[in-house]
Amino acid sequence: MNAEIAAAVALLQAGELVAFPTETVYGLGADAANPEAVARIFAAKERPADHPLIVHLGDVEHLGRWARDIPPAAQQLAAAFWPGPLTMILPRATAVPLAVTGGQDTVGIRIPSHPLALELLRAFAARGGGGHGMGGIAAPSANRFGRISPTTAAHVRDELGPAVALVLDGGPCTVGIESTIVDLSRPDRPPRLLRPGHITPAQIAAVIGAEPELPSGGSRPNDVPRVSGSLDGHYAPRTAMRLVPLAQLAALSADLRARGVRCGVLVRGELAVPAAATLRRLPDTPDGFAHGLYTALRELDLSGGDLILAAAVPGDEPAWAAVADRLRRSAHGAGCQST
Ligand code: TXA
Ligand code: MG
Repeated sequence: MNAEIAAAVALLQAGELVAFPTETVYGLGADAANPEAVARIFAAKERPADHPLIVHLGDVEHLGRWARDIPPAAQQLAAAFWPGPLTMILPRATAVPLAVTGGQDTVGIRIPSHPLALELLRAFAARGGGGHGMGGIAAPSANRFGRISPTTAAHVRDELGPAVALVLDGGPCTVGIESTIVDLSRPDRPPRLLRPGHITPAQIAAVIGAEPELPSGGSRPNDVPRVSGSLDGHYAPRTAMRLVPLAQLAALSADLRARGVRCGVLVRGELAVPAAATLRRLPDTPDGFAHGLYTALRELDLSGGDLILAAAVPGDEPAWAAVADRLRRSAHGAGCQST
């Protein structure tokens, strides 16, 4: 075992926090079977205690320690997408502390594919976890509650500083936005999509024969469990932010500049935006845009402008749905309506 992984495992066993890379975003990890360690996550993030955490595992063989009544669809999805950017919500096994699940009777589980995450998870489990023999690492995105998720080790240090005992650096996250979340916990009810992500409903349908139910738009139904990513305002910069149709971006930026407003602009593709105070350009593809999105938002946020103008994406196209979801919540969380 490499020395840094060994140090990370020892810290987790001692109930400390270790941030680690995943293919989606960086996670803020703690021994999921240790309620005191889990409480440190909530304190560091300033996250409300009733928001559940995702438990990360290194091996699908350990799923039964954390979940019960695992339906065949969950087994099929695990075989198809794990390790990878998919989280499944399943009925909670009795040994899972309520601190992890936000008091709910379900638990979110995922096996990430980043090699460093897998190495950490497997080493932690091989050492018996934190002494409870469970070997899971609870990890939300390593940002303060409601803020932009980190996609590099430096983002985590900037965001959380000394609250984290160790930040494992695995380079920039390849996917760049959080995992797809599918709820498979409801007996006799179809799977339901709680958070869109890199793995699309069509990919899920190709494995289990039907697309998951989509969350109904607007206000959330009463039976949807608490998902902080489902809050209208999330993933937010501190600077005000507005979503603008691509075709209007250059003119609006010029108009605002003429009125003395300094705009940071997030554009996609080749469009020229001459009047931007700060410009970040992302590829005009869903994967490329997702990969660069949070770094670009962070940089625009730090650039000291008055307003971030972000090019809207074609959210009614399934491939763009996850990016559209993050952009909409970022703009909402930053206190500006999308247009
Ligand atoms: O890609 C990801 O999923 C990243 C990396 C680090 O794995 N993690 C992540 O965690 O995004 P977090 O805590 O920032 O977002 C997880 C979401 C939250 O909105 C939480 O409410 C939801 O998953 N969640 C966790 N357990 C749940 C449960 N039992 N029922 C419903 N939602 C749950
Ligand atoms: Mg998060």
